[in-house]
Amino acid sequence: MYPLRRNRRLRVSESMRHLVRETVLSPNDFLVPLFVVEGKNIKEEIASMPDYYRLSLDNLAIEVKELWGMGLKSVLLFVKVADDLKDNKGTEALNPNGLMQRAIKTVKDVCPEMLVMTDVALDPFSSFGHDGIIENGRVLNDKTSEVLAEMSVSHAEAGADVVAPSDMMDGRILTIREALEDEGFYNTAIMSYSAKYASAFYGPFRDALDSAPVDIQDIPKDKKTYQMDYANRYEAIKETEMDIDEGADIVMVKPGLCYLDIVREIRNDVDVPVAVYQVSGEYAMLKAAAEKGWLDHDAVMLEQLYAIKRAGANIIASYFAKDAVKLLS
Ligand code: PBG
Repeated sequence: MYPLRRNRRLRVSESMRHLVRETVLSPNDFLVPLFVVEGKNIKEEIASMPDYYRLSLDNLAIEVKELWGMGLKSVLLFVKVADDLKDNKGTEALNPNGLMQRAIKTVKDVCPEMLVMTDVALDPFSSFGHDGIIENGRVLNDKTSEVLAEMSVSHAEAGADVVAPSDMMDGRILTIREALEDEGFYNTAIMSYSAKYASAFYGPFRDALDSAPVDIQDIPKDKKTYQMDYANRYEAIKETEMDIDEGADIVMVKPGLCYLDIVREIRNDVDVPVAVYQVSGEYAMLKAAAEKGWLDHDAVMLEQLYAIKRAGANIIASYFAKDAVKLLS
């Protein structure tokens, strides 16, 4: 039979392809992760993340204005903490005048409408590089959650719109939600890293913040007792549903590309926005291949971001956000 339907008809020209495109990317889709350091006039490139920088507060202000001008309206803040401020309990994280708290205020001062999201986890503040307090060689769950709740309140007090716990302790969303309600922060949203896998793709991020688990006897060498096993799928659904029940407003899958099956499954299962974190190792991989001339940086970047959106992401945290928005406009 002569084909009545020729699928290539809808691919015949650029205009036609645009007409029938199913997935659209816009600046509104992105969260921009930013790394903040103490000091003045600092913009230091992260060795394993080419073209990505640690910024002091003055440069953070400049960067945020530029992002806003490009239509990027959300930032996700991370801080690099000096070694002498780190301890087992992450005490510095609660300092009302700490770097995170000042970074939040800096962004809100220069750009009040910019959505400020903050990383809530102990690892940048932990002398052991773990997301929780350590006792007898184990990462304590409930005591850690209490600190995370205090940290969240401290971020909300400084002006954060969204707190983003990235630690994977059990029950921490409920503990954080209760603390925020008790302190009157009814409108502070929680974006929970719900399905966060124990991934080797976080390496460059740990370089950026100097936050890798330390190699000391009796201290866990990895995060596998709290982050998820990458072999598991049903567990991601359980984690995500529990976080929503506990009060998460947005849930997240992390990393991105290797986990798009999980993203689709969760998108089909839940009724809250789903975020995906395209993590540091994914960024580094493409940068390295492009530097060698083995991959076309911009083309592969867009293909990856569209794939993440097509898989079901409503929000994408990406180190490529700026590059992508430049290309899209
Ligand atoms: C830590 C945290 C990590 C990332 C975000 N928050 C690393 C880790 O869990 O060790 C990784 C982000 C990235 O790799 O881009 N709480």
